[in-house]
Amino acid sequence: MGLSAAVIWQLMRGQSRAPGLAERLNAFYAPQANAYDQSREQLLHGRQALVDALALKPGERFVELGAGTGKSLDYLYPTLATLEQVTLVDLCPALLNQAKRRAAGHANVQIIEADVTTWCPAQPADVVLFSYALTMIPDWFKAIDAAFNMLRPGGRIGVVDFYVSRRCAEPGARQHSVLTRAFWPLWFGHDGVHPSADHLPYLRNVFQPMLVHEHMAHTAWLFGSGVPWYQFIGQKEDGTHD
Ligand SMILES: C[S@@+](CC[C@H](N)C(=O)[O-])C[C@H]1O[C@@H](n2cnc3c(N)ncnc32)[C@H](O)[C@@H]1O
Repeated sequence: MGLSAAVIWQLMRGQSRAPGLAERLNAFYAPQANAYDQSREQLLHGRQALVDALALKPGERFVELGAGTGKSLDYLYPTLATLEQVTLVDLCPALLNQAKRRAAGHANVQIIEADVTTWCPAQPADVVLFSYALTMIPDWFKAIDAAFNMLRPGGRIGVVDFYVSRRCAEPGARQHSVLTRAFWPLWFGHDGVHPSADHLPYLRNVFQPMLVHEHMAHTAWLFGSGVPWYQFIGQKEDGTHD
């Protein structure tokens, strides 16, 4: 699966206890930045499929919040060159250095080092993406609200991430066992990743859902047990939400 010794060591050590989020993220990712893409290939499911489903059109403005190494640029081919602007925002300089390398030669791609809960683009976005980022953003309510505010009316948001269901899942949604709901937040929490029962319901509340797919990934590296993840695409209907 391509997990190098540096990546395994860092995952075992977990997140640092530095007081600031940027410091914690950089301490966690810097030692594994070179190996990040290869190591996450089989762990972070459904990224290409979500970008495909977002169906970006020539001339659109695309923003990824929590973009890391800018892997989404690979998923945007061949549409990438036709987009008006692609903005990759992240708080971790070590990962953004990889994104800068990847973006070299693409005049329409800009890389921004900022906290996505407070950053705001100069012009409204047509599409905003969170790819395995919401689970790492402590103030994820603010991050979703920021995405809502930066989208033009009619714009789309795409989210792919780990999650767990609520104790009583909403009608039509998948119900996870008590073991699944307890185990995954504990397992991932060590590395600063927090699968939540509230992200998906909040996204459904803020945006008009266009696509909701709930999945279970069976991982050979953890005795075949299932990790729940989802894909969400929603549309911003008007200028405000409750
Ligand atoms: C698991 S990585 C996902 C990276 C990339 N989207 C991908 O799919 O490979 C989560 C990313 O969220 C970033 N992040 C976490 N909190 C953030 C915040 N408040 N502002 C900006 N980026 C943040 C981390 O630095 C990290 O790059």
